[in-house]
Amino acid sequence: MSETILESDGLYHVYESKAEDGNVVALRGLHINMKAGEAIAVVGPSGSGKSTLMKCLGGLMKPSAGSVSLAGKNMTRLKGKELVELRQKTVSFIFQEGNLLPNLNARDNVAQPLRHQGVSSKKALSLADAMLDRLGMVHRARALPSMLSGGEQQRVAIARALITRPRLILADEPTGALDPVTSREVLALFKDLHENDGVSFLLVTHSKEVASFANRSLELRDGRFVAEHGESIDVEDLSKDRELIIDETGTVTLPPDLLVRLGGAGRYTVGNVASGYLSLQGESVEAMGKMELAQFCPACKHEYLDSDEQMCPSCGSSRPMVEIET
Ligand SMILES: Nc1ncnc2c1ncn2[C@@H]1O[C@H](COP(=O)(O)OP(=O)(O)OP(=O)(O)O)[C@@H](O)[C@H]1O
Ligand SMILES: [Mg+2]
Repeated sequence: MSETILESDGLYHVYESKAEDGNVVALRGLHINMKAGEAIAVVGPSGSGKSTLMKCLGGLMKPSAGSVSLAGKNMTRLKGKELVELRQKTVSFIFQEGNLLPNLNARDNVAQPLRHQGVSSKKALSLADAMLDRLGMVHRARALPSMLSGGEQQRVAIARALITRPRLILADEPTGALDPVTSREVLALFKDLHENDGVSFLLVTHSKEVASFANRSLELRDGRFVAEHGESIDVEDLSKDRELIIDETGTVTLPPDLLVRLGGAGRYTVGNVASGYLSLQGESVEAMGKMELAQFCPACKHEYLDSDEQMCPSCGSSRPMVEIET
């Protein structure tokens, strides 16, 4: 069994607010275990908690509850210098935008993490140029971020994230601001790092292409993992085999077609509980309205048309049920 690079248990995050709509519970008790060398995609609709999850896992934000371990060290217990050092040595971030320091030019931005680690200025700059070259940006090495296009800024940010040779890359929609061609090039670079250098990736994405090199994908909805697709568990198989998985938080994910046959979302009472046996009785299921498979993917807006697929062919999210309008 290979080493665990990132592990989290009982991860909760609540954004406190005094406003009328009150607190927002963004993460509801997540468990994640990532082996060194794995690539995992995180998918889910807008507002489901993806960015919050990435920030908590990378130590950029303190979760309200739960633990996060990076390379075997419990990050939630580390403070100040120790935390900074562990992060510097192990993990890099790529966000959708706003990654760069505005008053430094491209090569100084890329060289900066190395300088922080005490690498000499000359060496840091020459490594920065080499990395910018790999991302097709060496010709713009002396430009300030404000002089670069969104896609160019993102390539510089990616160079900056890679320069320290991190073992783990946390990326929040890293190719969101890139055109399809650049996006494919960046992806090829990620794939190369993953396959040849054993770099682990946890990436938030709406893109099938980005998700395609991941070993598995985790699907978030309302701060919970509702499904896992990929090598270990396959939702399609799950719906074919009529097998249900109940996760550690007690959440059951029903294949959508089974939910339709059961009568749809609604109130059920538990009639009989024994180990390995559960009997459900629908109560006001009718009152909740009839359900059907959604026409559009909530995450990427893919249109299903006549298909009865239960997993989005373009981004990998589960297909939800919606109420039939009357
Ligand atoms: N700083 C904040 N203060 C209060 N609530 C927040 C804050 N940031 C996010 N939230 C709320 O937390 C929930 C999860 O947000 P998050 O940004 O993690 O979603 P996301 O899955 O990354 O969405 P998107 O796909 O749009 O980027 C949302 O309901 C959001 O409104
Ligand atoms: Mg987000």
